[in-house]
Amino acid sequence: MPGTPTAAPAPAPVPADLPALWLRDNCPCTECRDPRNGQKLFQITELPAHPAVGEARSLTAADGGPGWQVRWEPDGHLSHYADAWLAEHAPLTPAPGAAAGPAVGDGRTETDKELWAAADLAGRLPEADWDAYTSSREVREQALADVVRLGFVLLRDVPCRDRMVLDVARTFGFVRETNYGELFEVRVEADPNNLAFTGARITPHTDNPYRDPVPTLQLLHCLTNEARGGDSGLVDGFHAAALLRAQDPEAFAVLTRVPVDFAFADARTELRAQRPLIDVDPLGRIREIRFNNRSIATLRQPASVLEEFYDAYRTFAELLQRPSLQLDFRLAPGDCVVFDNTRLLHARTAFAESGARHLQGTYADLDGLLSSLAVLRREGARA
Ligand code: OGA
Ligand code: ZN
Ligand code: ZN
Repeated sequence: MPGTPTAAPAPAPVPADLPALWLRDNCPCTECRDPRNGQKLFQITELPAHPAVGEARSLTAADGGPGWQVRWEPDGHLSHYADAWLAEHAPLTPAPGAAAGPAVGDGRTETDKELWAAADLAGRLPEADWDAYTSSREVREQALADVVRLGFVLLRDVPCRDRMVLDVARTFGFVRETNYGELFEVRVEADPNNLAFTGARITPHTDNPYRDPVPTLQLLHCLTNEARGGDSGLVDGFHAAALLRAQDPEAFAVLTRVPVDFAFADARTELRAQRPLIDVDPLGRIREIRFNNRSIATLRQPASVLEEFYDAYRTFAELLQRPSLQLDFRLAPGDCVVFDNTRLLHARTAFAESGARHLQGTYADLDGLLSSLAVLRREGARA
């Protein structure tokens, strides 16, 4: 269930009590896995269809334990399993009444997040100073963990250099180049191909919903912000979706099942993607929000679907516009906000086009950030 904490590892189970094919598939021997990289060497179809634990012998520290040696029927294959491995990987106990589960998160769904409204973050914005971020493993780990848990981090005093936003992205991942280039300039342009490049107000949205896969991270680095207006806002879309589920479960269900077309076109580009506004994982946990009133296309659906979709879309939009959900702040030169574009919506107020305002933005992906965070944690555990 959403929000259920991950269960602590159970005590080591014994091999005979475990699903045999699962246990055999996880044999760590060098015939089964390449010892240089841990990669599996066989196909599932190459295993006996119904392996059984023939003989299980308890191993003591003297003969490589604590753990078990298993001789498999019918083929006599020998496997060794450490108790520590068995304890760590023991099958989970399903939550009462759950069809599947329980909830071990992949780091991407609501299970692994701290959902927030604006007041929850008052006085405790997740932020880090650039010098500390680049020089301290702990600060970097905390900042990346904040992106995973809260959906964003605000880096302060990032040098106001042209293209610096790319260097920021490369501290934890890989720049995702798009039709906008490696980076995009957010400033008033004479012939804007996007409302972002005008002084207009931009209501809460996720970026580039017309791409599949969508860029899962976005960075905005402020170089100049002298215009009147142009303040920033962030909304936790997972929180809003969870509120919708509580308040109007049918509207939530509609938004998870109706595919929505998003489109973007200019002289050189024609992008389309079709995804729901709220994407859930196989256990029903909120995993991805796409919301962008500017680039939603004309939907082609049966009339009854259009009617129920528009009702639900409007209800969700009203929720997303609740002032209590939106965290307001102002980017100052040197601020770089890094945020989860599958979860947070971002916004800005209108600004006077006569005033100077210049951000540089880029996209990156959460898989790289999660990997960097895991490696930092590994290094921390070793230190
Ligand atoms: C964008 C955007 C917000 C801003 O470029 O995607 O939403 O503060 N910009 O200008
Ligand atoms: Zn083996
Ligand atoms: Zn945007």
